[in-house]
Order: sequence, then structure tokens, then C-alpha cells
Amino acid sequence: MKIGIDKIGFYSPGYFLDMADLATARNADVNKYTIGLGQDRMAMPPITQDTITMAANAAVGILSEEDLEAIDLVILGTESGTDQSKAGATAIHHLLGINPYARAIEMKQACYAATAGIQLAKGHIALNPTKKALIIASDISKYGLNSGGEPTQGAGAVAILIAANPRIMSLDNDAAYFTDDILDFWRPNYSDYAFVDGQYSNEQYQRFFEATFNRYMEDTGRTLDDFNALTFHIPYTKLGLKSLRMVADIDTRPDLFENFNHATYYNRTVGNIYTGSLYLSLISLLEKGSLAAGSRIGLFSYGSGAVGEFFSGVLEDGYKDHLVSDHQTMIDARKRLSIHAYEAMYNVSLIKDGSHQILDTTHETSPFYLKEIKHHKRVYNK
Ligand code: COA
Repeated sequence: MKIGIDKIGFYSPGYFLDMADLATARNADVNKYTIGLGQDRMAMPPITQDTITMAANAAVGILSEEDLEAIDLVILGTESGTDQSKAGATAIHHLLGINPYARAIEMKQACYAATAGIQLAKGHIALNPTKKALIIASDISKYGLNSGGEPTQGAGAVAILIAANPRIMSLDNDAAYFTDDILDFWRPNYSDYAFVDGQYSNEQYQRFFEATFNRYMEDTGRTLDDFNALTFHIPYTKLGLKSLRMVADIDTRPDLFENFNHATYYNRTVGNIYTGSLYLSLISLLEKGSLAAGSRIGLFSYGSGAVGEFFSGVLEDGYKDHLVSDHQTMIDARKRLSIHAYEAMYNVSLIKDGSHQILDTTHETSPFYLKEIKHHKRVYNK
């Protein structure tokens, strides 16, 4: 039985900062950001968008009434969740109106968690083929104003429906995964921002890619010739490009580099969305590329701390007909922030003292948003 991605869609908030404006403000050469890191813009969430609302906004665009009845597993992968105890997936389950006979959990392993969710969902569907699983990767990436990681921020969510006989991509039953206890990027409970040892993290990312890619090839007997595209977790697009260069040569496989370019389309303008970055890259490739049905795609997932996984999938007949059609419209409708407006938005925070905070939601056009905090509880519109 084939199991895989039946539907996939993303959401990103309605504001962005252009890298040219950041470069001017930080006295940096814009080419460092656009060429050196491979990023053009980054999405900025207003205070009314958190990981729960972004997840619900991503999922509402792909789910039908029939899906809401068939889903019995909801997994939120995030590293910028809103609660230490209650899973954000329970709120998402409610906002979307999914039938109550479902499991709803949140998973954490930095940017890797959604991949773990997808693999768990695959096993779940193998045992329950008439059911569907909703996996959502949702994150706000913030390193602090004037920090080294500032040009690699972003915000957004990717929703993925895993089902039997998928209409977009079936997942191969092969995966190679690798864990090592390292501190390349982490966020202690007391800190609003992640700590990152950027250059060390890049090295580790590539070590994990090499280990899982080689292991996958040894285990499956496949070679690069069996792949039409390789996609990567891309905190910034240049890291994926450098990793592709580790295993492929542009002269012998120009198609892999062309497809990689397609696979960076939304990431270049949305920025780093942590758990969803690999899947935003996959959406970019599927929408902007022209891969034929039957093409095999390799996916490298990496979550600092660290876990890496290389796995693969094969595109289904007519997959293009089942992609979400209005992602580009959403991106085109975003408002450009001045550096001043970006910094002001950055510094707005939710109250933590249990008092009542009513948020200004007049700017909101998304289906779901946060409207108030009351008695330490987040209140969403539905
Ligand atoms: N024109 C073109 N390229 C330029 C340039 C210019 N004027 N100036 C610098 N560059 C290039 C550098 O050569 C480098 O490219 P290379 O790596 O291919 O050599 C790239 O731009 C970045 O420069 P660097 O000096 O390494 O930047 P940095 O010290 O500011 O750090 C990161 C960059 C990515 C390490 C930092 O932004 C970071 O820590 N981000 C967070 C990363 C993350 O999220 N990791 C965890 C999850 S995987």
C-alpha cells in the first residue's frame, strides 16, 4: 500500500522585511545576505500570529469536510510552542473543527520534529489505512535584533495530510537517520531567543547530511542517478546549495541544481521557518519546478541538538492538480516593513502577569489569529 503526502500547504504572515533594508540598517553588504546566505526577504509575524494560529491558517487551506472526519492523528512539530505542558495540537484540532476521536500531540526536536511526525503518521496509516493524519510544522524564528542570526529569521507553517494512496507523493519505505548529543543550537526555558553556534551548526548539519545520505545509499543500493531532485532543510538557502555540492556536480547533473533553485523559491522570501523549512522547500519545488510524475525526490531533514534523516518519495500522477493554488497570491499580498516598523513589531510582547490584554486585530485578514490573553490563557478567534 502506498502511503504519503495527500495534500500540502503553507501559511506565512502578512509582513516582511527586505534584506536590503536590513543590510542598510546593520551596515552590512546586501550581497552577504542575498548571495552569501541566499535570502531576499524574511517574514515577520505580528503579535496576533503565534505557532497555533499559523498552523491552523496553513491547515485550513488544504482540508475538506471529509478530511476533518477522517483525521484521527494531529501532530504539531514546533520549537517555538506556546506552552510547556498543553500541546498546541489540541488548540489547532479545535480551531479546525476536527472530529473529537483523534490523538493530538506536540513534538519537539528542533527543526526535525515534523519529519518525526510524518514517519510516525506513516506507521499509523499503515495500521489504519482509512484514516488520515495531519502533521503541521509551525515556527517563529527569532535570534534577537542585531544578532548574528538576524538575517536568517522568518515565520510560517506547513500543513501536510498523510494518507493511503496519496495524490501528491508516496513515501519510500527507506530512511536513514542519525542522532548525536551536541549543542549547536538550543533555547533554554528561560530564554526568548535561541543560542546558536552558527559555524559549528553548519558543520554539524553537513556531517549529518553526509552520514545519512551515505547510509541511505548503502542500505537501498540506490545512487544519485535514481534521484531527480534533492531537497534540504534550509535555514538559509545557501546551506542547502553547499550540501548539494557535497554530493553532486553541476556539470554532470545540472538538473539537480536547477531543481534545487526551484526548491528555494518560497524559502528565499519567507526566511527560516525551522520545522517547516524542508517542507516549504518541497512545496517550492513542486509548484515552481516541472518534475514529471514518477520522479524520485530526496529529502534531508536536520534538527539541531541533533537528529538528521535522509528519506525519499516518488511523485504521483497528476500531483500538480492537487497543489494549493494561492500561495503566490498570499506572498504577493504581504506588506513591506520599514526597519523601524520591523523593530517596533519585534519588541512587542504578550503580557506574562495574568492581567487582561486585548490585542489590536484590525490589521488581521487571516482566518485565525490571537485576540486576547486572559487569566494566562490565549484566546483565539474561530
Ligand atoms: N558578498 C557575497 N557573499 C558574502 C559577502 C559579500 N559581501 N560577505 C560574506 N559573504 C558570504 C561568506 O563568504 C559566507 O559564505 P560561505 O559560507 O559560502 O563562505 C556567507 O556570506 C556568510 O558569511 P559569514 O561570515 O559566515 O556570516 P556570519 O558569520 O554572519 O554567520 C550564519 C552566518 C548563517 C552562521 C548566521 O547567520 C547564523 O548563525 N544563523 C543561524 C543559522 C541556524 O539557524 N542554524 C541552526 C539550524 S541548522
